[in-house]
Amino acid sequence: MRAWQRFMIRLARSGRVRQIVQEGSLSRRLAGRFVGGVDLAEAIERAQSLAAAGFRASLYFLGEYVEDPRVVEENVNEIIAAVRSLDPEGLDVHVSVDPTQIGLTLSDEVGMGNARLIGRTIARHSRGNLDCIMLDMEDESVVERTLAMHARLLEERVPTAVTLQACLRRSEEDLRALIRLGARVRLVKGAFAESSERAFVRRAEIHRRYLELAELLLSAEAAERGVFAAFATHDHRLLGALEERLRARPRPAENYEFEMLYGVRPSLQRRLRERGHPVRLYLPFGAQWWPYTARRIGERPANALFVWRSLWSS
Ligand code: FDA
Repeated sequence: MRAWQRFMIRLARSGRVRQIVQEGSLSRRLAGRFVGGVDLAEAIERAQSLAAAGFRASLYFLGEYVEDPRVVEENVNEIIAAVRSLDPEGLDVHVSVDPTQIGLTLSDEVGMGNARLIGRTIARHSRGNLDCIMLDMEDESVVERTLAMHARLLEERVPTAVTLQACLRRSEEDLRALIRLGARVRLVKGAFAESSERAFVRRAEIHRRYLELAELLLSAEAAERGVFAAFATHDHRLLGALEERLRARPRPAENYEFEMLYGVRPSLQRRLRERGHPVRLYLPFGAQWWPYTARRIGERPANALFVWRSLWSS
């Protein structure tokens, strides 16, 4: 990992830095670069302006790997409040959730109970088939349990979707099973450092693997079974290949979308939108916005300059 990225991860983890930055007078402007807002009201406002510009959004309440049952409860309440606020605004009732933020760290039953609660609230407020609880995929130790949670939610007819990491060796088998279920799947490269026994670790391998799995998601069998495919990447080479594939064999706009993080490569997001593709933006919100923002800056030093400029320009 590069020295810059290591430095930003240290800043992301420092409680003292977090306190200074999150409580500073310029904090709202800094937060606005990569997160939807420091609270739900701001995030809804941001989701509305994105919708006006033609983008779908998925709200994500910041906070992961929680072991304190009280914090789990607070997280679930925040997510449910978000779900209830989206519908009256005419926005997609779509939230992304880390299983470990809603209790999977405590037990499968707690995690499942809370996912069911959130999913059923979505079902009550849903107006279309794009609405769902999207399960994020965390490190390899919780993959099996996250997939089991997803399968149970599907059995119970809770509107649900799941993320698969192209870097994991097991993902092809997992994807084939999800296709048989006619699931909604978000495909990402994978953000966690995994061992080479379990994962492809070289960039070129992950790239190739992503395209192979994307091909399965776009296959005739997947279309027949009603699979919904979300391609979540900022990699323009991957996006170019996917667009080419979609030009050759078009898919209805209600069956796929591209997905990116809010604030990352916004010009690329606009270009995809202008070329007629549905684009969803992952829109994190909440008081704990600094660690997330620091990680985004760490991924690309140029972002620090951008953030600095936006702080001082009116
Ligand atoms: P890559 O990292 O190669 O980036 C491609 C290009 O994008 C870079 O060359 C750079 O130019 C640009 N770029 C990347 N980051 C940037 C930044 N911060 N600022 C500006 N430019 C930047 N992972 C996971 O394990 N579980 C999950 O549930 C999810 N969920 C998820 C949802 C969504 C909507 C997205 C977009 C991503 C995830 N991820 C994830 C993260 C994913 O696994 C992956 O780590 C990141 O998307 C980075 O990989 P890329 O495919 O973007 O390519």
